[in-house]
Amino acid sequence: MAAATAALFALPVNAGATVVVRKAKTVKVTAGAPATLLTMQSRAAGCTKPPRLTLVLKGRRIAHQALRPRKLQHLSFPVVVKHAGTYKVKARLRTGERSCRVRLGLAAFGGPAPAARSKSSPVLPDPMLAPKRAVPLGAAVEWRSLSWQTDSDYHRAFTSNFESLTPENVMKMEYLEPERGEFDFNYADSLVDFAAKNGKEVRGHALVWHQQLPKWITSKRWSRDELNKELELYIKTVVGHYRGRIAEWDVANEVIDNHGNWRESPFYEALGEDFVANAFRWAHEADPGAKLYLNDFDIEFDGVKADKTVALVKKLRAEGVPIHGVGLQMHWDEGAPPAPAEVQRWLRRYADLGVEVQITEMDVAIEPAYNQHPEHLENQAKQYESAAIACNAVVQCTKFTVWGVSDKYTWRGSQTVPLLLTESYARKRAYELVRGAFASR
Ligand code: G3I
Repeated sequence: MAAATAALFALPVNAGATVVVRKAKTVKVTAGAPATLLTMQSRAAGCTKPPRLTLVLKGRRIAHQALRPRKLQHLSFPVVVKHAGTYKVKARLRTGERSCRVRLGLAAFGGPAPAARSKSSPVLPDPMLAPKRAVPLGAAVEWRSLSWQTDSDYHRAFTSNFESLTPENVMKMEYLEPERGEFDFNYADSLVDFAAKNGKEVRGHALVWHQQLPKWITSKRWSRDELNKELELYIKTVVGHYRGRIAEWDVANEVIDNHGNWRESPFYEALGEDFVANAFRWAHEADPGAKLYLNDFDIEFDGVKADKTVALVKKLRAEGVPIHGVGLQMHWDEGAPPAPAEVQRWLRRYADLGVEVQITEMDVAIEPAYNQHPEHLENQAKQYESAAIACNAVVQCTKFTVWGVSDKYTWRGSQTVPLLLTESYARKRAYELVRGAFASR
């Protein structure tokens, strides 16, 4: 088992211009295998423009990216070094604003370097022993349901239990561009403004999906050029509108069907496979600071859908497409909890491709007849816990999001009690076990 020691330290860097942190601290990696990932937290305050961070390891630039001008951000940079040992990491921050102050916390975790893996199922460090990380817990928030306008408990339940907001519906195309060329950001803006006011991150969901499309898209057959133009305009308008305010986007959602084939959609029909790579490129042009995700359900389980998704991510990365992560929705039914090590293997399947991985829409539905049954509720809690322990252990897992604030409003029907808070917004055992799997925030 590769032990992992982490030198987590803060560099109080008052960036007025380009600041080279000369007395770079050492990050001691005593792992049996080389460090595979640097993770860090950046805490920016007083910045209106995103400060730019450059990380240098042994004279080699290993990261160069815009930090979000928000309170706290978790960053991770896959790094493979030749030998375990002690490395100096230099951080350079560039910002044009005297008021902008950035603190960096840097840590490294050992672990088998991806290249060192054998083809057979790899032996992974025991997830139960991984150092706990402060991974943000997110929830989908449904603006349009009555709860939002009249149920003040709903607001408090979200702000006091979660750190990240995913608009459940109002950032989908049928709401943002209901008529061709006519954009309506009102509903989505109110969620993004609410998140900013409460210091929450936002996951944008979902730029390209085969569902919840406006009639002007679904009511005709499109030529390649015409739909390409419309899709480029849509993505650049939406991502540009939220530039600097969205931590991650689900750029392409559910593009592979359950048989491992391309899912039928107006986009695939008119544009072929290219629509995915183009969507990522357009989104990246519109906001270079946002992390761009491919998102899907049932790709955690072994099978043809996961294999096809792995192949797609490899192909996109080989083509230089700016894909930064894979979102595993994890819409589960209650049952025997998988071992954390098994869930960790599922997450590593994508992390080892050199991208981040997030759990993006988790819920665990219980048959209504058993929704008060202690054994079924315990299964549910342990299923959530396994996923959280695995996410904590895979340092490329940067966020854990559940698909709703409470059992009161869920697409799976309240009777299935699928979420972390009860209908009256009380924390369930599942909430406590998920929180317990991570470092407290
Ligand atoms: O906006 C209308 C409203 O005007 C009308 O009064 C109301 C009653 O008919 O319906 C409203 O639209 C509903 C919408 O949710 C907003 O509440 C749609 O009928 C309903 O189909 C839609 O369901 C959403 C579903 O995606 C659509 O496929 C769920 O809330 C949402 O949780 C679910 O989320 C998806 C993710 O986006 C992608 N992953 C799977 C996940 C579950 O399907």
